[in-house]
Amino acid sequence: AGKLFQFKLVLLGESAVGKSSLVLRFVKDQFDDYRESTIGAAFLTQTICLDDATTVKFEIWDTAGQERYKARASLAPMYYRNANCAVVVYDITQTSSLDKAKSWVKELQRQADPNIVIALAGNKSDLSARRAVETEEAQAYADEAGLLFFETSAKTATNVNELFTSIAKKLPLD
Ligand code: GTP
Ligand code: MG
Repeated sequence: AGKLFQFKLVLLGESAVGKSSLVLRFVKDQFDDYRESTIGAAFLTQTICLDDATTVKFEIWDTAGQERYKARASLAPMYYRNANCAVVVYDITQTSSLDKAKSWVKELQRQADPNIVIALAGNKSDLSARRAVETEEAQAYADEAGLLFFETSAKTATNVNELFTSIAKKLPLD
């Protein structure tokens, strides 16, 4: 029999970048064109088998990007404080969403567990005709900040499993 590892994962990022959509794709392999903004936070779990001997269970906190749906401005620390890993999401068609993502990364690097594994996800890669953030720019930032980096599409499922699998592989599995 193999081993089961459990990790807490938090999703952070501006409203409408597709945090809930990434989770819905990862957990249920579904996508909605019209998703309601998350209120407070949603909790979901998903397990992935890395190999015959290793299963990783993610306990996922999908937070609200909209300030008005947060009970308090300072609610986020409750979700990232004991997180083992974080996915910070931006939308490749919105430059301002990368700025917001960078400020989340800074906050995590100052306030979260020093061993937290952080991944940057440039979501909506299917909307390449409206791209505003170049892949190279985001990759350079991710390298400098020590983050995993993927361009994803919750709509087409591109790189969604790859994102979560690469996080699992970076977590302490022993
Ligand atoms: P908050 O809960 O308000 O923080 O937003 P969110 O980050 O959870 O965004 P959500 O998943 O609700 O998605 C916002 C909108 O973007 C929805 O209309 C989704 O259908 C759309 N969307 C999400 N991911 C993608 C994607 O990869 N491609 C495209 N084309 N649209 C997407
Ligand atoms: Mg949401």
